[in-house]
Formats: sequence, structure tokens, C-alpha cells
Amino acid sequence: MASPLLLFLVLLSLSAIAHSGHHNSRPRLTLDYYAKTCPKFDQIILETVTTKQMSNPTTAAATLRLFFHDCMVDGCDASVLISSSSSNKVEKDANINAALAGDAFDLITRAKNALELSCPGIVSCTDILAITTRNLVKIVGGPFYKVPLGRKDGFVSNASHAEVNLPKVNSSMDQMIAMFNAKGFTVEDLVALTGGGHTIGFSHCKEFSNRIFNFSKTSDVDPTLNPKFAVRLQKMCANYQNNPTVAAFNDPLTPGVFDNMFFQNLMKGLGLLASDQILATDPRTKPIVELYARNQTVFFETFANAMEKTGTIDVKTGRHGEVRARCDRFNTK
Ligand code: HEM
Ligand SMILES: *[C@@H]1O[C@H](CO)[C@@H](O)[C@H](O)[C@H]1NC(C)=O
Ligand SMILES: *[C@@H]1O[C@H](CO)[C@@H](O)[C@H](O)[C@H]1NC(C)=O
Ligand SMILES: *[C@@H]1O[C@H](CO)[C@@H](O)[C@H](O)[C@H]1NC(C)=O
Ligand SMILES: *[C@@H]1O[C@H](CO)[C@@H](O)[C@H](O)[C@H]1NC(C)=O
Repeated sequence: MASPLLLFLVLLSLSAIAHSGHHNSRPRLTLDYYAKTCPKFDQIILETVTTKQMSNPTTAAATLRLFFHDCMVDGCDASVLISSSSSNKVEKDANINAALAGDAFDLITRAKNALELSCPGIVSCTDILAITTRNLVKIVGGPFYKVPLGRKDGFVSNASHAEVNLPKVNSSMDQMIAMFNAKGFTVEDLVALTGGGHTIGFSHCKEFSNRIFNFSKTSDVDPTLNPKFAVRLQKMCANYQNNPTVAAFNDPLTPGVFDNMFFQNLMKGLGLLASDQILATDPRTKPIVELYARNQTVFFETFANAMEKTGTIDVKTGRHGEVRARCDRFNTK
């Protein structure tokens, strides 16, 4: 006769065996991860984010883009924050990351410094990036979503991985869908994430110059572009080769507000990037653009959900990562 205790022990060990196989595939992130080890976590993040965004309103867009570019490349592990060394050309120094804005890096450094004073060696850089992004999206008018914590910082940062995992303005729709699909995103997610990313922030002229200068043999300007908008952009970018810092708002009508105007813009030819404008013409994405343009609630729900998903891409836990002492350097190298 097996005693209840023995039965209990047998079941316990069976369950341990059953769970051990999931160790790497299912990161265990929790909302209260720092509650005991860093009680001032929420307060420090709140204060740092609010102060920075008030003094530099471009921080929100800068940080949202940084988060996306981190998570798409070897997962959300703060690999994008690492600085190059003589032996390693890092993600940050890939061409596609050349315009990542300094305000975002500065925000992470400030938050990390404050957290290290309060609870040294506890909070990872990747968690800081994930939660500051969420708070900033909310501050500029976007939806709230949950950010479970406990990610570790990664050990790899390689420029060539950035070039192959991030979409470009001249990517085809097939390429974009495949790229997002590889990270677990649907076409609805792709449209919502891109609209959420490009309802705030800037693009430099070189990213859309081929749409407004010498577009084709028959037309100077991309015919899918609203003609008045095109003239404004031509004036603004007239001297962009000599002055490469000139940039235009991604959402020309409500540039500082997180809303669904981006989708309404696309339907009027006010999409700045070629990759934005094709969302409104490709038959796979056009109906989704139209839906988000008329219903901001569906857009916000899909975006929030997709951002939660973004925050779980290839997350490292346990010994698969570390808590960096400085966000721009590996501890071990
Ligand atoms: C679908 C493919 C996408 C392409 C081809 C693309 C490309 C670009 C390009 C070329 C810029 C301008 C960079 C510059 O000149 O400074 C930009 C800006 C930006 N992108 Fe995307 N992007 C895409 C999707 C996303 C997604 C999914 C997000 C985030 C969820 C995002 C967030 C941003 C933000 C916030 C900015 C403005 C950055 C700032 O003002 O500092 N993008 N994007
Ligand atoms: C970076 O990644 C590429 C492609 O996967 C690889 O060939 C190269 O060796 C890597 N560089 C470093 C320094 O690990
Ligand atoms: C996009 O442009 C880059 C150069 O900026 C080029 O290397 C790449 O092949 C182009 N991609 C497509 C899909 O045309
Ligand atoms: C457009 O083409 C003309 C000649 O066809 C050339 O002079 C001009 O520099 C080009 N402009 C740009 C911005 O490439
Ligand atoms: C917008 O979408 C939400 C969420 O899916 C839905 O509950 C609502 O009825 C929609 N509103 C309109 C006007 O269609």
C-alpha cells in the first residue's frame, strides 16, 4: 500500500521532470519581480521617465524605437545598448541603427544609475528598457499594457544580426511579413506595431528622399504621395545632403500624440516612408489600415497586445543572461 506521503513525493518528482523541459522556452517573468529586491523600482522608473520626457519630449519616440530594435535582434536583452570594442562591431553601430536617438540611451543610463544607487546589481538593463518604453507610450497618449519583469541582459551584440533582422524602408511586403512572422507576429500585429511606432517621432530626409526627388523617368515625385505634402517635403529636404540632420514628422498631423492618425494619413497619401505607404495599398494590410483608421480601440488593443509579445521575444533568464553593472558593457568582457 503506498502511503499518501510517498504518492505525493512521486507526483512531485514527476511534475519536476515534466517542467524541466520547458526551462529555456518559457521565461518566467513576473509583474512583482523587484518588489522585495528593489522596493523603490517603480518610483525610480516613474521619476526618471517623467523628468526626462518633460525636458526632452523626443524621448518617447526614441525609446520606443530603441526597444523595438533591441527585441527584434537576438531578443529583448539590451544587446542594442552595448558599445563597440576593437574586436566586436555591435548592434548599435550597424547602419540601420545609426539614427537611434541619444535621448533613449541617456534615459536608460539615468534610470540605471539611480537604480544602482538604491539596489546595486539587481535590475537588468533590458527590464529598464521594457518598462520605460511602456510608461512613455502611456505618457504620450497610447494604451497601457503589462510588463512582466525578470529578463536578463544578453551576452551577444553583433552588428550583422541587426542588418538582417530589422525591416528597411525599401523592404517588400513579403519581406516585412516574413520578418515579423519569424518573431511570432501576425500581419495585424505588424500593422499595429508600425502604426504605433510611427504615430510619433521623426525620419531623416534620406529615408524618403527617393520618393520626392527623381522618383522615376515619368514623375519627380512618388505618385502615391499627396502632392501638397510632397512639395512641403521637397522644400524641407532641399539641402538634405549637406544638412543630413533635417527630419520630418512620421505623423505630420498629430506628431506628438499617440493616436490612430497615422492610419488616416496613409489613406490620404500622407505616409512618409515607402514602407508605411505600402501598408495602405497591399491587399493583405489595406483592410487592417482601414479598420485601425476608423476604430482606435481595436488599434490600441492590438498594439498593446503586440507590445507585450515584443517584450517576450527570446528572453534570457537564469544563467542565460546577467544583470549588467553598466548597460553599455558586458560584465564578463
Ligand atoms: C515595418 C517596418 C518598419 C520600418 C521599415 C521602419 C523604419 C523606420 C525608419 C527608417 C525610421 C526613421 C529613422 C530616422 O531617420 O531617424 C523610423 C523611425 C521610427 N520607428 Fe520605425 N520602422 C518600422 C517599424 C517600426 C516599429 C514596429 C516600431 C515600434 C513599435 C517603430 C518605431 C519607430 C519610432 C518610434 C521612430 C521614430 C524615432 C525617433 O523619432 O527618434 N518602427 N522607422
Ligand atoms: C556576427 O555574426 C555573423 C553572422 O552570424 C558571424 O559570421 C560573425 O562571426 C559574428 N561576429 C562575432 C564577433 O561574433
Ligand atoms: C534596399 O536598399 C539597400 C541599400 O540601401 C539595398 O542593399 C537593398 O538590397 C535594398 N532592398 C530591397 C528589397 O530593394
Ligand atoms: C535629379 O536628377 C538631376 C538630373 O537628372 C540631377 O541634376 C539632380 O542632382 C538629381 N537630384 C537628386 C536629389 O538626386
Ligand atoms: C471598435 O472596436 C472595439 C473593440 O474591438 C469594439 O468593441 C467596438 O464596438 C468598435 N467600435 C466601432 C464603432 O466599430
